[in-house]
Amino acid sequence: MNEKLSHARAKVEALGKLQLGFYPTPFHKLERLSEMLGVNLWVKREDFSGTSLFGGNKIRKLQYLLKDAKDQGCDTVFTYGATQSNHAMETCTAARRCGMRPVLYLGAIVEPKPNDVRANLLCDRILGAEIHILPSEGRSTKDTMKANAATFAAHRERLAKEGHKVYDIPVGGSTPRGAAGFAEGFIEIQEQAEACGLKIDYLCTATGSTGTLAGLTAGKILCGNTTTKIHAYEVGKKDPVEYPKSVAKLANDTLELIGEAPTATPECFHLSSAYVGPGYEKPYKEANDDIRLLARVEGIFTDPVYSGKAFHGMLDEIRKGVIPQGSTVVYLHTGGTVALFSEPEIIGDLNEDIA
Ligand SMILES: Cc1ncc(COP(=O)(O)O)c(C=O)c1O
Repeated sequence: MNEKLSHARAKVEALGKLQLGFYPTPFHKLERLSEMLGVNLWVKREDFSGTSLFGGNKIRKLQYLLKDAKDQGCDTVFTYGATQSNHAMETCTAARRCGMRPVLYLGAIVEPKPNDVRANLLCDRILGAEIHILPSEGRSTKDTMKANAATFAAHRERLAKEGHKVYDIPVGGSTPRGAAGFAEGFIEIQEQAEACGLKIDYLCTATGSTGTLAGLTAGKILCGNTTTKIHAYEVGKKDPVEYPKSVAKLANDTLELIGEAPTATPECFHLSSAYVGPGYEKPYKEANDDIRLLARVEGIFTDPVYSGKAFHGMLDEIRKGVIPQGSTVVYLHTGGTVALFSEPEIIGDLNEDIA
């Protein structure tokens, strides 16, 4: 194996991690779509990460975060997100595997119905998480969480007085330690590409709380890779100036945690806000059409909140020539498919019989 890659892997893994998922996740070519689109299209299956059937990108982050929690002697994990947060649900599965108690504070962007609890929130209940639902009042999940920070802190303090040790994981697990999981993810993709004799031109992913994109960017720098372009598709409305800066900052904080020079800038990745549609957890026709296309051509499910919008963004860029014909493209499938079983407001027209 390439010495640079093994050196980069050793540096990230020196942080310490638990083995919670099933890695490496599969990496395979989408033969029929490649032919249809005129590119060499591969998929990295983070939807197969484990630890449950409803896996996704958060498990890589949690392997590093929960190792830290264990090392600190924590018995309880706090995390935050929307009521249909994949991150919250994956944190519960990972916490349970580690014998820790999950506590969730969830913002209701789409109000759940008490007698018809669905998808991630249903899984959270089955996992026995302590669930606190906060009304979002039209704000983003991040704003809701900021407004309620004092409530969370008081709860953590109360538990501390009762003798519990709480590990606090912010929205999306997007801390430097969490993002390190995706520095490792980038290395893993390069290892698999190398084994297949591939040189990746474009690596395409959804981006939300920034940890995945920041981690991939840190991984690219760690590997000394100058040829793979990272294209990321936003899934909620973001500040066009501050958001790229926050990704670069997290990439740099991740590099520093690993012991590398912080050389990331917003020029290290290509961000697109063109595929958000009406907003976070709000579906739209063109994205749903491409969710159906991937299912009907390759038999693969994506979700209407994250992986489907990113897939649509990537396809649109291929169709428009932003990603040129003949390129080798990797779609990072970040999971989230449990959202296919969420509220009608989230799935939109996916339940309609559209030919
Ligand atoms: C399925 C899915 N894809 C992508 C993302 C975005 O990852 P990040 O929050 O690290 O930007 C998330 C985050 O929750 C997710 O659940």
